[in-house]
Amino acid sequence: MTALLELRDVTKRFGGLVAVNGLSFTMTSGEIVGLLGPNGSGKTTALNMISGLLQPNGGAIDLLGESVGGLPANRIAHRGVARTFQLVRALPSLTVGENVLAALAFRRHPIWGEAAKPKIEELLGSVGLAGRADQPAAGLTYIDLKRMELARALAAEPLLLLLDEWLAGLNPTELRAGIDLILSLRDRGMTILLVEHVMDAVRALCDRCIVMNTGSRIAEGPTDEVLRHPEVVRAYLGDLHA
Ligand SMILES: Nc1ncnc2c1ncn2[C@@H]1O[C@H](COP(=O)(O)OP(=O)(O)OP(=O)(O)O)[C@@H](O)[C@H]1O
Ligand SMILES: [Mg+2]
Repeated sequence: MTALLELRDVTKRFGGLVAVNGLSFTMTSGEIVGLLGPNGSGKTTALNMISGLLQPNGGAIDLLGESVGGLPANRIAHRGVARTFQLVRALPSLTVGENVLAALAFRRHPIWGEAAKPKIEELLGSVGLAGRADQPAAGLTYIDLKRMELARALAAEPLLLLLDEWLAGLNPTELRAGIDLILSLRDRGMTILLVEHVMDAVRALCDRCIVMNTGSRIAEGPTDEVLRHPEVVRAYLGDLHA
């Protein structure tokens, strides 16, 4: 079976710093994979290369067996990759509905105007923002802003969704709601690469994890095994529980 996503020996340098160092992994459709690692280990840089925001210095990135490494972000988005950002990006002067409309208008099969309205409602409903289309985005609480960002990503009807610490900064009640929301995406068959520091969320959501440290993969496998791996405990969990 062709992998949905395959990275082979992908490298990104910033001057003398090797932010991602020969990273390889594959994902199949329907999986939720955790991409873990301490601060600065290269997780966001990896997502940036997969989504085309950054060009790799070496290696290959394939989506459904076709090379996408180095393509511009809009071309990769049109091939089926959508993402959220570690620091939420929204259009605060627009309404919630207009924010989603902007995403619908730039996708591969754009829709806008009246035709977009039912789609906007459906997308907002799927992230827990039903009936909120006319509200100004600027007035949203943090979790609702995150929900809106997710609706914008889902508007592209992606094959692969990249979530960069989407659950960060939520209180325990919101975190539970956020985990349930991602589980509902999994039930719909969405494939998700999830960068996350919240271990309860990783355990609840990820079938499998890849752990990075200083740009390199140090472990990969089923979540429970990976989180017990001595090198992971040393590099990462050791930090958190120190
Ligand atoms: N545009 C850039 N220019 C220069 N250095 C960068 C750039 N982006 C990231 N880096 C560096 O590359 C390394 C990896 O950063 P990255 O943001 O990928 O880490 P991360 O694993 O996402 O960390 P965090 O958990 O803190 O979000 C860090 O040392 C960072 O300072
Ligand atoms: Mg990051």
